[in-house]
Amino acid sequence: MKFINLTLHNFKSFAGDHEFNLDRPHGLYFLKGENKSEPRLGANGSGKSTIWDALFWTLYGKTLRGLKASNVRTWWLSGSCETSVEFVKDGVFFFTVRRSWNPNSLTITEGNGPSRIVTQDDLEEVLGLGPDEFENAFIIGQFSHMFFDLASAPKLALFSDIMGLQYWMDCSADASAQVKVLGNDQHEIELEIASLDGRLEQGEEALEEARRLHLDFKTLSANTLMDQQDKLEKSQKDLTASNKELKKHDHLDELQSAIDEMEDKIEELTSKRSVEGDKLKSARGKMDKAYAKIEVVEEELYKFEGVEDTCPFCNQTVSKAHIKKEVKALQKKKDKLNEEFFKWDAEDSKYSKILDGINLNVTNLVKDIGPKRINWKIAQETVHEIKSDIQQDQGEIDKHKENIKRIKTEKNPYRDQIDSSMKNISALKKSRKESNEELKDTLTDLEGSKFWVKGFKDLRLFLVEEALLMLEVEVNNCLIQLGLINWEVKFDVERETKSGTVSKGFQVLIRSPDNEELVPWEAWSGGESQRLRLGGTMGLANLILQRKGMVSNLQIWDEPSQHLSPEGLEDLVDLLAQRAQTLNQQIFLVDHNSYDYGGFEAVFCVEKGHGGSQIVVTEDEIRLRDGGGR
Ligand SMILES: Nc1ncnc2c1ncn2[C@@H]1O[C@H](COP(=O)(O)OP(=O)(O)OP(=O)(O)O)[C@@H](O)[C@H]1O
Ligand SMILES: [Mg+2]
Repeated sequence: MKFINLTLHNFKSFAGDHEFNLDRPHGLYFLKGENKSEPRLGANGSGKSTIWDALFWTLYGKTLRGLKASNVRTWWLSGSCETSVEFVKDGVFFFTVRRSWNPNSLTITEGNGPSRIVTQDDLEEVLGLGPDEFENAFIIGQFSHMFFDLASAPKLALFSDIMGLQYWMDCSADASAQVKVLGNDQHEIELEIASLDGRLEQGEEALEEARRLHLDFKTLSANTLMDQQDKLEKSQKDLTASNKELKKHDHLDELQSAIDEMEDKIEELTSKRSVEGDKLKSARGKMDKAYAKIEVVEEELYKFEGVEDTCPFCNQTVSKAHIKKEVKALQKKKDKLNEEFFKWDAEDSKYSKILDGINLNVTNLVKDIGPKRINWKIAQETVHEIKSDIQQDQGEIDKHKENIKRIKTEKNPYRDQIDSSMKNISALKKSRKESNEELKDTLTDLEGSKFWVKGFKDLRLFLVEEALLMLEVEVNNCLIQLGLINWEVKFDVERETKSGTVSKGFQVLIRSPDNEELVPWEAWSGGESQRLRLGGTMGLANLILQRKGMVSNLQIWDEPSQHLSPEGLEDLVDLLAQRAQTLNQQIFLVDHNSYDYGGFEAVFCVEKGHGGSQIVVTEDEIRLRDGGGR
């Protein structure tokens, strides 16, 4: 990261507009101060630290001591406070970050593009560094705790943050959460499998039952069919027999015709008999009449017997001739009547004979027709019975045929049940297989996740070891430059104890030419500690930039000289100058003390008067700007 420029507007003691070029040649620069408004304070309170506060505030929205918002605007002014930083990232991307308070705004401009409002997170993503990393790599602040000064836990936390080691703890926690989720999944899948097994067992029982019922139905159907076929056969035999029997009674019609014929004959004879009877009756009536008349005539004739001359009827005397005549007439009449009588008698005989003939015929016919009628009746009843049997047989045949057809076409209702049971079992088996696969995958994942719960922690420890080695190398290099020849720094961080627990902490241990054993750095004097502290801070700064793959053109050391002896100060300045050359950086040494050192690239003075602070360019700076240089 290459810083180009910094501007301040009404920022803390810098009232009005100020600009500070950060794109200077590499080398060690000295920033001193002069408090003209309160001369007794000397360089104190002039505004030296404020410049770097402005840089930090622009990038992170707070000062190096954590002040925000209204605290950064120049106390005696109203209106807004604004700062901006220009920098180049990765050697090509030119950015301008501008932050203001009242109104609040944070914008970023890339190259000549339009400025856009961004969040702090957006900005930090562009910067690629968080505030802690920035503070430890760029501005070793006057009030910042140096790395070695931090207590063991914050030291470890900072180290973890910088090395991104928390990431692996998070990964381990994620793996642990995943173990829990997968464990629940495993439990649920096992429950599902148990439920599927239960349902499968039920399904198989249902299939077995359906198959049994299917077979029962089939057997029953076959038996019923056989029974119906037997019955059909029997009914057909019965029908054949009945038809045969019926055939035997074919003469019934002939018999009927004969009876009819005889009846007709009887009827005809009866009517003839009536006619002939009438004739007989008429002849007999006439015969009777003739006979009665004969009797009358015979009576009259009788009366004339012995009569001589007296009329027997009128008692008058009549002649014998007359009487004779009378008798003769009567005889003649009698003869005629007799003749008539015999005529009718002959008629009577004739008709009687005819009637006798008719009666004989009728009697014979009646005699003949009786048995015939009985035979006919018996035969007719038999035929009726046979026909009724035939009808019944036909009915039976139809019924059996219908039953056979029905049985043959009838669908086994348990076929569907078998099909649906088989489908159900197949679906359940498929689900069971899928669940087994799922369980297998889950168990594999679970094993993997269980492995990574520890695996990520192990990886983290491995990375910690690696990072510590790098830090040790960086710090030990700086110690030599700080005059601590044959001194060695060793770090010890959390380790897994024998009992499997992790002992947390970050210990700095020192070996010097005077002690073979490693001892805590807190054991050393103020000056020694300050050199070790500076070495630790430089080493950490190098490590941060190295880890981020960053090259910086700037580093600020604000008041690092406490506790240092004059030799220590000399070593510090030499080391910083050497670092500036090696790292190709502008290193700003900010101090209220003056240094008798001719190697500064330039010296700046921050003067604070009644109107506020301002950066005054010293003669050295003018010399440099004019192309002089050392
Ligand atoms: N918002 C503000 N407006 C105006 N002045 C402020 C504001 N905040 C702080 N100051 C003052 O700005 C001055 C400069 O402070 P700074 O910390 O930059 O001094 P310094 O030069 O680093 O001094 P030292 O050598 O003591 O560290 C101080 O006197 C401080 O009281
Ligand atoms: Mg200061």
